[in-house]
Amino acid sequence: MFLDQRNLVRLALFFFLVFLFTGLLLLLTMPRCGIIPSIPWQFKYAFPRCSMESCFNFSRCDSSPELLVYSYNSPQPIKPTPTYLHNFPSSLWHTSDPQKACLFFYYSDSQANKEAWIKPELSSILPFWNNGLNHVIITFADKWSDSNPPQHSIGMASILGTLLQTTTYRPEFDISIPLPRLNLGAPPRLTSLEPFERKYFLTFKGRRYFSGQGEFRSSVAFKGMHNGVDVIVVTTCKQGTNDKILRQQPWRGAECNKDQTLFESYDYVELLNSTFGLAPAGRSPASYRMLEVLSAGTIPILIGDNYVRPFNTLIQWQDCLLQFPISEIHRILPTLRALPRGDVEARQKYCRQVFDKFLKDDNTLVNSIIQSLKDRFMGTLSNFATQHTK
Ligand SMILES: *[C@@H]1O[C@H](CO)[C@@H](O)[C@H](O)[C@H]1NC(C)=O
Ligand SMILES: *[C@@H]1O[C@H](CO)[C@@H](O)[C@H](O)[C@H]1NC(C)=O
Repeated sequence: MFLDQRNLVRLALFFFLVFLFTGLLLLLTMPRCGIIPSIPWQFKYAFPRCSMESCFNFSRCDSSPELLVYSYNSPQPIKPTPTYLHNFPSSLWHTSDPQKACLFFYYSDSQANKEAWIKPELSSILPFWNNGLNHVIITFADKWSDSNPPQHSIGMASILGTLLQTTTYRPEFDISIPLPRLNLGAPPRLTSLEPFERKYFLTFKGRRYFSGQGEFRSSVAFKGMHNGVDVIVVTTCKQGTNDKILRQQPWRGAECNKDQTLFESYDYVELLNSTFGLAPAGRSPASYRMLEVLSAGTIPILIGDNYVRPFNTLIQWQDCLLQFPISEIHRILPTLRALPRGDVEARQKYCRQVFDKFLKDDNTLVNSIIQSLKDRFMGTLSNFATQHTK
């Protein structure tokens, strides 16, 4: 049978209608699959979709045997503590010549930005912006909105931060980094102590919250783990936002005095003499506790949702720590008590290796950042190939 012109038109019309119909059907069903529950930390972050192949100029990195980075500014942490990047400008990866740079660092945390609530348009303040090509935005903030430009405006820049979320970060493009240690007090002889030679089984000493995602620290499930014998979980209500809430709703502080007395009766460093140490989410899923616990040879137990564990391309975290969703806190003690001894010992061994190799001090942390950045090239640039031995 020949297709004359009229039949052709009919056929075209038919396919057009089929096309229209499927399109309509897709349109109607799609939003339903894409709905994200409105739990606050299952973030509405929306970064431009990017990967090394689609958002990076490899040619910029050819000219030098080392990865060279130009920085627009110096690290300006919002937190009162200096970050481990403060020495970066004097490292061998730093260049003051933007023409030679493979990467451009912009530290977006600044007290000034936060206080003035300025969300600078990066294209207008960074002279080599080029829609973010080869740029890295560095942030230690709890929330993206604390100090960073609007998410959609970051162009092709990648993120090096403590606040990355598994549902929104761009794997092998963005890099999760840890919060620094606030307490540096773990005595070296503690680190070498085997997991079952320790005074406690599981410990935590820290703040609890009345709001935000760290609110679970005020729950019975969390505080109730405390048994006063080998499990010590002690909390304090003292915190700026809590104080504000207490002025409005004094009833929420009912247990604060009792908690405070218990809190003060335990010494932080002594509590690190424990097989396991809790590193729960607080104002963000990242916890200062994580590195503190690791520094003592204690196995971290993370509690948090949607958290991208730091340097996850370098570290096999599942061989070291355990992690529980906020809804599953009741499982922590039964699970830990049931772990075979050999498993706990192997975990501690790997945790200690991880700490020594990637996390132990400022220089090591900077090295891990550089290694993570180089690993993004997946071997494409032979000048930056790094050695991996487990
Ligand atoms: C990529 O980098 C090379 C070398 O610096 C440069 O010549 C080229 O124009 C860059 N391409 C883009 C899209 O910026
Ligand atoms: C840790 O606890 C064990 C068991 O109670 C004790 O023998 C050891 O001296 C403690 N070590 C440190 C460094 O506190």
